[in-house]
Amino acid sequence: MSTPTSAQTLTFLRRGQPVTLHNVAPDRTLLEVLREDLHCTGTKEGCGEGDCGACTVVLGEAVNGQLQYKAINSCIRLAHSVDGLALWTVEDLASETGEQHPAQEAMVQCHGSQCGFCTPGFVMSLFGMYQNTQGGQGIDRAQAQADLSGNLCRCTGYRPILDAAQQMGSLPLPAGCAVNEAATVAALKQIAPARGTRYLRPKNLAALLQARAAHPKAQVVAGCTDVGLWVTKMHKRFAQVLDVTATRELRRVETYPHHIAIGAAVTLTDAYAALVAERPQLKTFAQRFAGLPVRNSGTLGGNVANGSPIGDSMPLLIALGASVVLMRWDARRGAIAHRELRLEDLYTGYRTHVMRPDELLAWIKVPRPTAGQTLRVYKISKRFDDDISSVCLAIQLTVEDGVVKAASIGAGGVAATPVRARQTEAALLGQPWTADTVMAAVATLRADFQPISDMRASAHYRQTVLGNLLQRFWLESQGLQHINLESLTPSTLEALA
Ligand code: FES
Ligand code: FES
Repeated sequence: MSTPTSAQTLTFLRRGQPVTLHNVAPDRTLLEVLREDLHCTGTKEGCGEGDCGACTVVLGEAVNGQLQYKAINSCIRLAHSVDGLALWTVEDLASETGEQHPAQEAMVQCHGSQCGFCTPGFVMSLFGMYQNTQGGQGIDRAQAQADLSGNLCRCTGYRPILDAAQQMGSLPLPAGCAVNEAATVAALKQIAPARGTRYLRPKNLAALLQARAAHPKAQVVAGCTDVGLWVTKMHKRFAQVLDVTATRELRRVETYPHHIAIGAAVTLTDAYAALVAERPQLKTFAQRFAGLPVRNSGTLGGNVANGSPIGDSMPLLIALGASVVLMRWDARRGAIAHRELRLEDLYTGYRTHVMRPDELLAWIKVPRPTAGQTLRVYKISKRFDDDISSVCLAIQLTVEDGVVKAASIGAGGVAATPVRARQTEAALLGQPWTADTVMAAVATLRADFQPISDMRASAHYRQTVLGNLLQRFWLESQGLQHINLESLTPSTLEALA
């Protein structure tokens, strides 16, 4: 694809060697660069929107002297975002003498490939798993399923591919396939930072906010898991991009006595790991946020700033009482200015918000759990894994002596923005926690919103399900188990078989 915008250089590492590309436009995707510029056609394009995993590649980043590996979707990732990183495509796994990597060999031995279109993506997800598990050790069915949830196959069925994930750790690793981590980390240090103003990737917060003030029209991106679709599906062009993901302050999760603060550049994988560490019951919900390659690129800050009414994080964060910190560069004072608001107050309408042109969402502050709280979050989607919600409902409730002392409810897919169900909260507060109270609140919840009909669900379905989920919360609070799909894990299914 030819590009009208002027461009800048980018450098990444492949097979231990730097690859430098000139004149890469800021809105060019990594997949375009791989297939069209480097002629690496092993990486496939299926959906072009982060759903199928055919385009999966693995990135390596040096963090505290160690390589961290992440499988990501190259179709929706902007090429310049991999500047200074190590990259593996499916062409990079076999040894130079043709011996296969265990991730490839296991797919062959388990008959995990038929038409082969999905196979490079599966192999790369397996490779990412292999590197993150000391050579594929200890991978059980649940992990295999979770880590491959971003890869779709229409031919083989998933059993042989899951078998390959569990088998690759028992296969020998040819010497020519091993990653020399120390040499890779050393080589990454030698890559000079990219220069140019078409793709800005500031390394610290002050520089990021100054760049935002100087270039208010630049397209802000984080993991690009939604903005990437504006490029591939809507054919939008960006003359200039401001990428927040290299800003070191915003890559941190900080823990305080009463809240954790998640920087806007923290990936969904790491942000949800921090949330699950505090509230283990969120594990299944966290794994159902798209697939792993999307969570490895996308950020919690991007999900929140993007403000999609069907984004999964916001109903949860609203129920948890989260707030957002917006920052800008105050040139008069020569310092950072900030303000904090409740997350639900960020939005003014469908994908519109209160942020000034020179402001950025910098932090998400999430209160830590307190005794007596019950939290559940429900995601309803057509497909269990790797899908977008039709309806999402998060409920945090405190009941003391049989009376509702606190109620906090966030909903998605039922209005133009993610919303707090204020009237339902009011209907519960101070009431006895009984079936009568719940049924009255169910009616209020259904009346609270007027959802639309679209390809994911009808308005009637959404309204009905919304109330049903509150009813389910009540039933679960009374001890009913296994009344949701989340409870059907690979082990429970095996037990039922
Ligand atoms: Fe389908 Fe990238 S081509 S996820
Ligand atoms: Fe054909 Fe997976 S082997 S799509």
